[in-house]
Amino acid sequence: MYEKIQETASWLKERMTTSPKTAIVLGTGLGQLASEITDKREFPYSDIPNFPVSTVEGHSGKLIFGKLGGVDILAMQGRFHFYEGYSMKEVTFPVRVMYELGIKTLFVSNAAGGMNPAFKIGDLMIITDHINMFPEHPLRGKNFPTGPRFPDMHETYDMELIKEATAIAREKKIRVTYGVYVGVQGPTFETPAEYKMYRMIGGDAVGMSTVPEVIVAHHCGIRTFGVSVITDLGGFDTPVEVSHEEVQEAANKAQPLMTEIMREMIFRSEHVQSTDMETFNTDHPTESWKSQK
Ligand code: HPA
Repeated sequence: MYEKIQETASWLKERMTTSPKTAIVLGTGLGQLASEITDKREFPYSDIPNFPVSTVEGHSGKLIFGKLGGVDILAMQGRFHFYEGYSMKEVTFPVRVMYELGIKTLFVSNAAGGMNPAFKIGDLMIITDHINMFPEHPLRGKNFPTGPRFPDMHETYDMELIKEATAIAREKKIRVTYGVYVGVQGPTFETPAEYKMYRMIGGDAVGMSTVPEVIVAHHCGIRTFGVSVITDLGGFDTPVEVSHEEVQEAANKAQPLMTEIMREMIFRSEHVQSTDMETFNTDHPTESWKSQK
């Protein structure tokens, strides 16, 4: 696997004309950002050696090298989900390649079901931590030389980036919440009892992606920042049915705000060194945010 990663990275390096330090996974709620990338160089996944082959018809993913707000970036349009049948090594392969290409910061987005009673549909939840409920661990097997066998996971979601997002949201008057993302395999949405259980174990939102990519990025020393669009709610006394269409619709509505935050974060990642966030309380981010309003 390591040789394959190197081979893919070499293939891309021979064709890249920029050296991005920032990558972004254009998950649900961020598709629009792709249209804002300029000076594009696109590589369909099917053209990239060793890249997982898309199993879903009409779901053609690609890597996009280009500029966003003057910053060189690498964007992944379309990700690989475990529920589609990919192995964890395949799901996280692009992140391993990103590391080889010199990526230092990774931005991810996703759609998630909210269990925190304070959440509303369409909310943006800045991910402060996660609970990994996937049945297979992405680091299972021979350890990669990018990180330790037993990685520390205390600050998996970079606190500086969370502070920066908080500052941006406040400046732009965008409502954001904070919380723990529970990563599950899907493809079923949760039963009412499952939503309740994920709430009881400390989750604020649940979704079917992000955790594998973030674990591997962390193992590679890549700083990560993630946002969930809360597209549906579960675990409350009145059961609420959820459909893929409703999830899409809620994500589309939240898209402009998510895009605005990410665009600004990417811009500042290269142009601003520090942020002024003295009132941010890392112990209870949601509480501190509420008390600031
Ligand atoms: N559960 C899991 N994944 C999801 C959900 C959910 O409620 N909503 C969007 N993705």
